[in-house]
Amino acid sequence: MTAQTPKLTPKLIIHGGAGSSLQGKGGVATVRTALYAILDEVYALLAEGGSAKDAVILGCRLLESNPLFNAGVGSVLQSDGQIRMSASLMDGTAQRFSGAINVMRIEHPIEMAAKLQSERDRVLSDEGAANFARELALPVFNPLTDKRLNEWLQDRQNDFERTMANVVAEEQPASSDDPEAGRGTIGVVALDGNGEIVAGTSTGGKGFERIGRVSDSAMPAGNYATKVAGISCTGIGEDIIDECFAAKVVIRVTDGMTLAAAMEKSIAESTANKRDLGAIAIDATGSICWGKTSEVVLAAYHDGTTKGDSLEAEPVSMSVAV
Ligand code: GLY
Repeated sequence: MTAQTPKLTPKLIIHGGAGSSLQGKGGVATVRTALYAILDEVYALLAEGGSAKDAVILGCRLLESNPLFNAGVGSVLQSDGQIRMSASLMDGTAQRFSGAINVMRIEHPIEMAAKLQSERDRVLSDEGAANFARELALPVFNPLTDKRLNEWLQDRQNDFERTMANVVAEEQPASSDDPEAGRGTIGVVALDGNGEIVAGTSTGGKGFERIGRVSDSAMPAGNYATKVAGISCTGIGEDIIDECFAAKVVIRVTDGMTLAAAMEKSIAESTANKRDLGAIAIDATGSICWGKTSEVVLAAYHDGTTKGDSLEAEPVSMSVAV
C-alpha cells in the first residue's frame, strides 16, 4: 500500500450475497453492522492512498472471514460433504482476470486469485489449485462451521431432497426443509485515488452441487473489470453465466451507456429471463450502482462522503448511489 493522498475521491461497494430475505442472517441490523464494519475498514485504506487492488483483496478477505457470508469460513458443503471454494480478481487497468476454481482447505481463496495475477496460467481449478496452494505454502485451513455441517447432515437425513442450497442470502435453520433455503457470495469493487478499478468475488458455491460444478464467481460472467467499469455478481451462478452479466454491463458502458443505464437494461433482461441474481458496480466517472432481480441484495457503498446500502430497497429494482 502506498501512503499518499488520493488524487481522486475513491469509491467502494461491497456485497454479501443476494436472496429472498435477511431473516436467517439475523435481520437488517445484523447484516448492516457486518457490512459497514468491513466498508469502513476498506474505505480507510483507499482514503489513505491504498490501491483498488489492495482494497478489493482486503474487503474480500474480511467478507470471507465472516461466517455470515457464503465464502471462506462458513462456505456451504457440496453434495459429497466437501467445501470447494472459488474466487477471482480482475484488475481493470491491466484488464487481467485471474481465478481459483473449487479450491479446498485454504482460508482465503481471494488470496490465491490475487497471486495468480502474475502467473502465466491465471485460472486454476481443483488439483492445479491444490498444487498452487502448496507452492504458495498457504496454511491448511478448514473453513467448515457447525452450522453448515448441520445443514448438510439435515439434508442427508432427508435423502438429499434439496438438490442445492442455492446461492441466495436467505438462511433457514438446519431443521428447515424449505427447498429455497440458500446462501450467498461475496464481492468488492473499488475505484482508487488514481482512477484504477478492480473487482473481486468469492464463493462457497451453491451448496449440494455436483462435484466439479463451476461457479460464475471465477468467470468473467460473474466478475469483470476494465478501465471503464468493474462489477461483481451474486446469485445463481448458472443464471449469471447465461446472462454473461458482469461482462455485458461493462461492455455496455464501454460502448457509451452510463453505468446506471447499463445496469438497468441488464437487470430488465435478466428479470424477463427469470434469472435470480444481483450485482454491484463502479465506473471510472465514480458512479456506484447495484442491481437485483432477487428480493434483496446485501450491498453497501461509500462514495467518499456518504455511506448507504441496498438492504431495504424495493424488490426488483436498481439504484444509483452517485
Ligand atoms: N454465484 C455463486 C455460485 O453460483 O456459485
